Amino acid sequence: MSAATRAFLALTGARLPVVQAPMANFAGTELAIAAISAGAIGSLPCAVLDAAAVVAQAATVRGAATGPLNLNFFCHRLGPAPDERRWHDALARFYADEGVPPPASAPALRRPFDAAMAEAVETVRPEIVSFHFGLPDEALLARVRASGARIFGNATSVAEARHLAGRGCDAIIAQGFEAGGHAGHFLAGHHPVGLLALVPQIVAAVHVPVIAAGGIADAHGAAAAIALGASAVQVGTAYLRTPEARPSDAHRGRLATATADDSVFTNLFTGGLARGLRNRLIDTLGPVNEAAPPFPYASAALAPLRAHAEAAGRDDFSPLWAGQGVALAREEPAATLTERLGAAALSSGSFA
Ligand SMILES: Cc1cc2nc3c(=O)[nH]c(=O)nc-3n(C[C@H](O)[C@H](O)[C@H](O)COP(=O)(O)O)c2cc1C
Repeated sequence: MSAATRAFLALTGARLPVVQAPMANFAGTELAIAAISAGAIGSLPCAVLDAAAVVAQAATVRGAATGPLNLNFFCHRLGPAPDERRWHDALARFYADEGVPPPASAPALRRPFDAAMAEAVETVRPEIVSFHFGLPDEALLARVRASGARIFGNATSVAEARHLAGRGCDAIIAQGFEAGGHAGHFLAGHHPVGLLALVPQIVAAVHVPVIAAGGIADAHGAAAAIALGASAVQVGTAYLRTPEARPSDAHRGRLATATADDSVFTNLFTGGLARGLRNRLIDTLGPVNEAAPPFPYASAALAPLRAHAEAAGRDDFSPLWAGQGVALAREEPAATLTERLGAAALSSGSFA
């Protein structure tokens, strides 16, 4: 075991240097329970929950598994509602094709971490709280710290890693270009960096453990991340193929056959840059379209189209999040995946 991994296990109480990635809308208590039971850090994605649901889901996990629990939140800056006329115009042909009326009212938005969520953290007292898209303001962050939680922040660049470490994060998630789901960048000028280059540079820049995320879906990837100096790995796409995750049937089917070049960065589904599999919407509008309003506003206008297509078993308007390692992932129980990646990570060493 590398010294970095040893330190990470001591910090978190995990038996294996594996973090089951939080996946809002795609996984919940069942996956967290399976991951924790197998020795990993289990994550509950809280970005689309209210505070009561966070407390209830955490109680479900606590009742079924003993080990480190991570509550994950978004910290995006929610700007004022944008003018969505260009976006509605871009989608008009789909509404006409599908015979679906545009939405009459806006559905609930993904909301950033706030005082109600800080109270939920104080109630649950998770071992870990992780943040995507930066960190909350100092007062909220201090409440999380005072709850006893270790704080993980997500960095897509060395500058972001330094920023997070400077604000007191206990570990940095180095999220590479390959990663499925939203790129969690929060400083201006986002130029996604591949994991092989990102991890060693972040390890050199900060004095806290670094968790490698992006494209890790098999034992080789897990061992390689540790060899680069990471303390642990965070894995999303591979967990999405386990029976404990909850992608739609159409999404699960695409995950089984997709290759790396099907996985593209797109802003169409939420307005934020995220990595997922091509589908009709992406192929028609292009993966990145300037008509889409900023995160998280783009999803509202798509919601009726998505619901209509999904009811017919079609993935035309659904976000099919998946990273570039999608073809490396297998359909297998979460425990088997956790143990396989964990064993590989433990047997690897760094060249520091
Ligand atoms: C379906 C899906 C949903 C995701 N949702 C979240 C989320 O809610 N919060 C978060 O911090 N990261 C989220 N991510 C990103 C993961 O934390 C992680 O960076 C990524 O999965 C690592 O790359 P991989 O998918 O190649 O393993 C998501 C990833 C996927 C695949």
